[in-house]
Amino acid sequence: MLKNIMDYDTVALDDDLGALVIVDQTKLPGVVEVLALTEQEDIHRAIRTLKVRGAPAIGVAAAIGIYLAAKKSAEREYESFYREFRAAREYLASSRPTAVNLFWALDRMERVVRGNSDAPVDMIKDMLHNEALNIMDEDVLVCRSIGEYGLGLIKDGDGILTHCNAGQLATVKYGTALAPIHVGRERGYNFRVFVDETRPLLQGARLSSLEMLADGVNTTLICDNMASQVMKNGWIQSVFVGSDRVAANGDACNKIGTSGVAIMARYYGIPFYVCAPTSTIDMSVERGEDIVIEERPPEEVTEMWYRERMAPQDVKVYNPAFDFADSELITCIITEYGKARPPYSESLRKIFDEREGCDGRKREGTK
Ligand code: MRU
Repeated sequence: MLKNIMDYDTVALDDDLGALVIVDQTKLPGVVEVLALTEQEDIHRAIRTLKVRGAPAIGVAAAIGIYLAAKKSAEREYESFYREFRAAREYLASSRPTAVNLFWALDRMERVVRGNSDAPVDMIKDMLHNEALNIMDEDVLVCRSIGEYGLGLIKDGDGILTHCNAGQLATVKYGTALAPIHVGRERGYNFRVFVDETRPLLQGARLSSLEMLADGVNTTLICDNMASQVMKNGWIQSVFVGSDRVAANGDACNKIGTSGVAIMARYYGIPFYVCAPTSTIDMSVERGEDIVIEERPPEEVTEMWYRERMAPQDVKVYNPAFDFADSELITCIITEYGKARPPYSESLRKIFDEREGCDGRKREGTK
């Protein structure tokens, strides 16, 4: 029997194959192809070309990727092993610039290596294996928690607009922005979900629509330029989006077009919710303007999805992959620790303090 797309692992580790296993998202929805990647070049390419994508999934892929690099190392002595690890880390970190989860996960893996410089290299490899699996397993709990908090903001029958794909396909399970919908489905809620197609790479049309339909959701696909019309029609009670990096002041960077959706939602008086795990919040970046925005190849705009090139050869193309919703347009930011409300510089700091407390208690408990 054909498996539902929700039954596939977005991203996983296969210990027997020594491989990062992903569903190739560039082939969806038409073809479900599972790839087992063992080489660093292939893992780097898979992230860069969006075979695996979405901030949390990229973080998990990088954690598994760096573990696989470390596992293959023939170095027996700590200093040379660490040098090799650093080179592999820098390489994977260069795959995409915006989603902070990539760097967050690599930092977490590096802390394992640095914190155990006295241990034999083989033992460090085992610890890296466990940390990669921790990052993966935690993502499920974190997204579930975001789903529960988000569900508290909506009611049965609501119309919800989403942009890009911040669902299970962007995480290990549940997603961030789509988690409240998945959790609601488990409880028998029926929502009407409107999905922006999300030019130019169509993550909404190809991925969110597929994921929503697979969960039995009443789903309507719209072109990006139709969002205002569906809001004006009164069909949307709330907007849910994910994020690739939230700055300390609450500016939330997400797929290009998010900023416009936030502005429209404010105009029509519709709440605009950003769902972001704390791994996506970058307290070292003060405001949205300081976030590096990835620019992608012009062909994604002029050629992709068309039978033949649709724009004149010489036209200039600007293809930023992300923009950010100004914090003042965001009703609240939903994290695994609860909802942060304006002023975000205070509420996000409080959430980080709480996380520190939890992590501290966890560390004490494991002594
Ligand atoms: O370029 P992509 O497809 O990786 O962009 C993904 C997004 O912008 C998502 O909305 C974001 O990563 C949140 S994922 C839970």
